[in-house]
Formats: sequence, C-alpha cells, structure tokens
Amino acid sequence: METTAIDFKIQQVEKSRVEQLDPQNIVFGSLFTDHMLVADCINGEWQTPEILPYGDIAYNPALASLHYGQSIFEGMKAFRNVNDEVVMFRPEENYKRFNISAERMCMATVPEEIFMGGLQKLLELDGAWVPDGEDNSLYLRPFMFASDVYLGVRPSFNYRFMIIMSPAGKYYAEPPKVKIETEFIRAAEGGVGYAKCAGNYAASLYPAKLAQEQGYTQLLWTDAKTHTKFEESGTMNVFFVKDGKLITPKTSTTILKGITRDSLINIARDKGYEVVEQDVYVKDIVDGISSGSVTEVFGAGTAVVVSPFSAIGFEGKDYELPAITDKSISTVLKNGLNDIRKGKVADTHGWVYKV
Ligand code: COI
Repeated sequence: METTAIDFKIQQVEKSRVEQLDPQNIVFGSLFTDHMLVADCINGEWQTPEILPYGDIAYNPALASLHYGQSIFEGMKAFRNVNDEVVMFRPEENYKRFNISAERMCMATVPEEIFMGGLQKLLELDGAWVPDGEDNSLYLRPFMFASDVYLGVRPSFNYRFMIIMSPAGKYYAEPPKVKIETEFIRAAEGGVGYAKCAGNYAASLYPAKLAQEQGYTQLLWTDAKTHTKFEESGTMNVFFVKDGKLITPKTSTTILKGITRDSLINIARDKGYEVVEQDVYVKDIVDGISSGSVTEVFGAGTAVVVSPFSAIGFEGKDYELPAITDKSISTVLKNGLNDIRKGKVADTHGWVYKV
C-alpha cells in the first residue's frame, strides 16, 4: 500500500520497558509497548499526528464518547517471521473496515497516511516488542472516540484517533465451551452488528456473564428474529465442519466481516476443501453433533486466531465435540494461516506487509 509522506511529531522514551515482556508468560491486553500514536481531528481537519511515550490521557467529564458511545476500534496483529522481520497481516483490510465503522457511527474517517503511517512508525520504534514464538504476536489496537466536550446528543465535531500495541499469546488457554444464546441478541438487521463499535462489546457482557455463571466460556449468538440461525460467537466469527465441508454463516449487517474469517475461507479453498457461506441452522448443527456428521465447531478472529470449541450447550444440554487432532480441519487451517504470517510458505495472496 502506498502512503503519502506525512510528518509525525515524535517524542521517544528515554529508556525502553521491553524487558517487562516475557514471551513465555503473556496475558492478553495487559502490557503495552513504549509508544502510542495520538491524532486529533478538529472540526474536520486532521492535525499533525504525534507519537508519544505510552501513558495516561486526561478526560473532560463531559467527553461525548463517555456518554453516547461514539467509539470504534480495530484488532490487528504484527508478527516476527522466520527471517526475524516484523510483518503485519492484511492491514489494509483493517483500515477499510475501520472507516466503514466510522461512517456507520457518524464519525470522521481517518486518512490512510495516518492509520498506515502511524502503524509503520510505531512498529519501527517498538519492533523489539514483537515476540517470537508459535502463538505469539503483537496485538495492534487502532481506536477512535468522539472528543467533543458537550452533552447534547449529536455527532461530535472532534475526534481522537489513537494506536496502542500490546504483546499477545494464546487467547484461550483451553478450548472454550460455548452456549447457544436464544434469549439475548448481539445485533439486529439495520443495527450496528457489522461495525466494530465499542457498544457491541458492552452489550454482550451481561448475557456472557450469565453463561459463564452456568459454566460456559462464551456465547454462540443466534439471529434476532427467530433464534434459529447462528451469527457469531463472542469476539469471533464461527465455522462448522459438517460431512467434511466447511460451513460459515454468510456475512450481513448483523455479522462482523472478519479478516481472519476471509483468510481461512481462502486458505481452505486453496487446500481443496469445499467451503459454503450460508444460513447455518441451530437444529442442523445440534442434530449433526449427535449423529456424528458435525465434527468440528470453531471460532476465528484476530485475537483468538482459530479456536476449536470443546462443547456446545443448547436448551440445558451439552453437546460434546470430538477432540481436535493434527488432522482436524481447524488445525490444518490454523497452521496454514500461521505459516503464511511467519513466512514459512509463499504469500500467494499478497497478505503480508513488511514493516
Ligand atoms: C478481534 O479478534 O478482532 C478482536 O478485536 C478481539 C478483541 C475484542 C479482544
């Protein structure tokens, strides 16, 4: 991707904290790299972006985003490849999706040179924070919030765009046990399900908490109208293996267009698997697990990568899934994705972006 040259004001740390990073012991989202990016959009004009030492920012109590939730984010990753180079995976897709979310939430869109140039500059400065190791990466978190100091309900005139970065390892220590949710909903047609807006995540917490109290790790969301079709699971898109075929709900206004989802569909087709994007009915999957025709159910997302489920709960009964092996489709796809990101195989799709 071409980005026009842009000036960044850079204030570097005097001493890096990178010795705090223990690649064997990473807790997702808890440690942040030395620098962060801050760019303000004031009345439609983007100001010179700044790279600053990572640290607190001050808020005015009337900050619009705190009250009405005009706030969006992206989740993306950088990797250390087999040649010890730092690479990002499909960052242009995150950039496009970020501005799709911005438009839906009536926010300013971010220029490419700030989004892509900011990631590039931060990774140049904090490259030492990209951990080595099979399941390790540097999680990149671009986000933007309304920064007007105003309590009237209207789109903000001012926005703050930021990027922070945090070393990441495996998201789930154990395969999650998920509950099919048939009372609460994540998104409805015409709503904001396809946008990566903060409120989608806030609204999911209460139903997820109830499921956790019943012994589940996460939820498998169903459609808002009939609760008969699958949508997503927790922070992931969802895939099913039925009769050897890979099946995933087709995207819509209620489902986030996952970049990992799209990558896995492509890798699966490259490897000769049949992939179907269609309505996936709860009854077909639950019956299929019982009869043995459904052999795998897994989540896919930036943070979780590929996360096979151990069991699915439906109407008070748990449906156990067969244990995952090296030959399971989820393992083959996860390895296929990791091999591309780590530079172990040719990047035939042009997905890898060298920093
Ligand atoms: C992602 O996997 O895309 C995420 O951003 C996950 C995050 C909500 C923890």
